[in-house]
Amino acid sequence: MTLRPLSTAFVGASRPFSSTVGVNMPSKMPSSGALVDLAKGRHSIYKLGKESPVSDEKIEELVNQAILNVPSAFNTQSTRLVVLLHKEHERLWDIVMECFQGLVKNGTLSEEMWKGQTQPKLMGMKNGLGTILFYEDPAHIKPYSEKFPTYKDQFGPWSEHTNAMHQYFLWIGLESLGFGANLQHYNPLIDSAVAKQWDVPTEWRLISQLVFGSPEAEGQEKPKKPVEERVKIYGKL
Ligand SMILES: Cc1cc2nc3c(=O)[nH]c(=O)nc-3n(C[C@H](O)[C@H](O)[C@H](O)COP(=O)(O)O)c2cc1C
Repeated sequence: MTLRPLSTAFVGASRPFSSTVGVNMPSKMPSSGALVDLAKGRHSIYKLGKESPVSDEKIEELVNQAILNVPSAFNTQSTRLVVLLHKEHERLWDIVMECFQGLVKNGTLSEEMWKGQTQPKLMGMKNGLGTILFYEDPAHIKPYSEKFPTYKDQFGPWSEHTNAMHQYFLWIGLESLGFGANLQHYNPLIDSAVAKQWDVPTEWRLISQLVFGSPEAEGQEKPKKPVEERVKIYGKL
């Protein structure tokens, strides 16, 4: 599959709806702005390749914009990102496979499951071009719990919220650059091996892995529950 000609800037990206990979949307759908178009066009893409529509610097710039501009409760700025590209990305997925092979050896995972399902899935991840690891640094959360006792139990959930905001920003940000991506959770199985490989502070908590690459398959539009069951609006003029 050839790469989509997309805007290389997340802000102001103006991908027309018709270019959305593999999603058959009504042709007369009114455009409601770049952000909504990106949100509508985002899908989990599992078949990824190594072709890149942009330079690595563009990826770095996008990640830096996420870390600078995504909000956090009380401005804690507790999210940490580790970006693995090319060979480093491949090393990550080799590590994940090594961790699973350990489970096969100790009998936790059957050889059949490993060969038939897990290994092909992980090879699919390795076929991509990069992975962003999302962490939370407790050193930047705990002091706030102590300083604001009224909210002390909220800082944990709020740290998850800001982390998720970074994940979503980067998911659609990567899409705006022309990548496909999917979100994975191989933590905590891989945490210590990953920390060792890239010298990540062991206190940092790994939350998720966003895998990206050239989209080699169509994104699938998933069924949506009715909006009216999920949104209530009052006072509309
Ligand atoms: C919080 C969260 C956790 C997810 N975890 C995983 C995961 O571990 N593995 C995976 O393959 N997809 C994961 N997904 C992807 C969802 O299954 C997917 O986004 C959802 O089914 C909707 O499909 P779409 O992304 O194509 O719109 C996760 C998504 C979210 C928002």
